[in-house]
Amino acid sequence: MGYWCLTWLSFFPLYRTMNNFLMTGPKAYLTYASSVRVGAQSAIQECKRQFALEKWNCPENTLSLSPHNGMRSATRETSFVHAISAAGVMYTLTKNCTAGDFDSCGCDDSKIGQPGGVGWIWGGCSDNVAFGEKISKQFVDALEDGHDSRAAVNLHNNKAGRLAIKATMRKACKCHGVSGSCTIQTCWMQMADFREVGNYLKLKYKHAKELEMDKKAARAGNSADNRDAVTHTFLIVATTELIYLESSPNYCVKNQTLGLHGTEGRECFKEDKNMSEWEKNSCRRLCNECGLKVVKKRTEVFTSCNCKFHWCCTVHCEDCAHVTVKHVCGRKDGGDGKRRDRGPK
Ligand SMILES: *[C@@H]1O[C@H](CO)[C@@H](O)[C@H](O)[C@H]1NC(C)=O
Ligand SMILES: *[C@@H]1O[C@H](CO)[C@@H](O)[C@H](O)[C@H]1NC(C)=O
Ligand SMILES: *[C@@H]1O[C@H](CO)[C@@H](O)[C@H](O)[C@H]1NC(C)=O
Repeated sequence: MGYWCLTWLSFFPLYRTMNNFLMTGPKAYLTYASSVRVGAQSAIQECKRQFALEKWNCPENTLSLSPHNGMRSATRETSFVHAISAAGVMYTLTKNCTAGDFDSCGCDDSKIGQPGGVGWIWGGCSDNVAFGEKISKQFVDALEDGHDSRAAVNLHNNKAGRLAIKATMRKACKCHGVSGSCTIQTCWMQMADFREVGNYLKLKYKHAKELEMDKKAARAGNSADNRDAVTHTFLIVATTELIYLESSPNYCVKNQTLGLHGTEGRECFKEDKNMSEWEKNSCRRLCNECGLKVVKKRTEVFTSCNCKFHWCCTVHCEDCAHVTVKHVCGRKDGGDGKRRDRGPK
């Protein structure tokens, strides 16, 4: 378990803070550490799901390699990673709070008993997102100890992630009255499924805005000017929007320096049955757009079959082979898609 956590979470920026807190932080943080860990894991999972059929598919190692280069670049993709991490941590903390896992917090009952609208009043257990927000900030935002433009951008995206939780919250109600006549309802606010938060942030990712600022000044390291430039730019970008500074590297090609695998060998889906447009286009997106071709890969899978019951009491089965066909991206000169070293011509 320890190793598992390390290999997964060390790729995520959160792990660093968590570690710091665990070793040096106030005791109160220990209470939340496991919740933060669960939140970070659900963020990774959601990131992988949202980007499963994209050129960049949320590989952990792109986030870990050289914390002062890879991770520190502020691309459209890292903007999503920051937002989903902050959101995941806030989400789990809030869920834990609602479930009564922490002594220090409970439902948000600030509106209980107040009229909400026609035929309903506030009641029930509203998710205490203010609590989740506060603790998530303390864990996740603490990573940004720099004062450069990237830190400012990351903090902005963390915040956008937390706002996504609030933006996707919805009202849930319960009927009261004689035999369920529903003459009056009590309602509370609850968080959407985390999947929905992921969908919401994926949309924000698509519309993420590149900050137009003086990049020469940024590179020159004049951090004071830099911060002013960023602050100024922030005034015109809504806090709900994701922002980035640098254009993305080419995710088609393997780049060891950046920890990128490229799309060669990735599976895609040929049009069939009930696929979403997104799935239908996956081969074009992953293979063709990257100068690769789509190759069929046959694999034999053996499963038990023709099982017979013998008195008494054994079951004999045969192994039957099923051929499954997958589509993967392969090099145009690679023939059958198996990786080959290019030999002499
Ligand atoms: C918080 O909830 C998660 C499940 O969502 C659970 O695994 C974890 O143990 C909870 N944390 C605490 C401190 O109870
Ligand atoms: C890998 O990425 C670095 C940094 O963006 C770039 O300078 C280099 O050319 C890339 N290498 C390849 C093989 O594309
Ligand atoms: C395709 O999707 C529709 C609606 O989502 C569903 O009603 C239908 O049964 C599906 N067809 C197949 C072949 O899966």
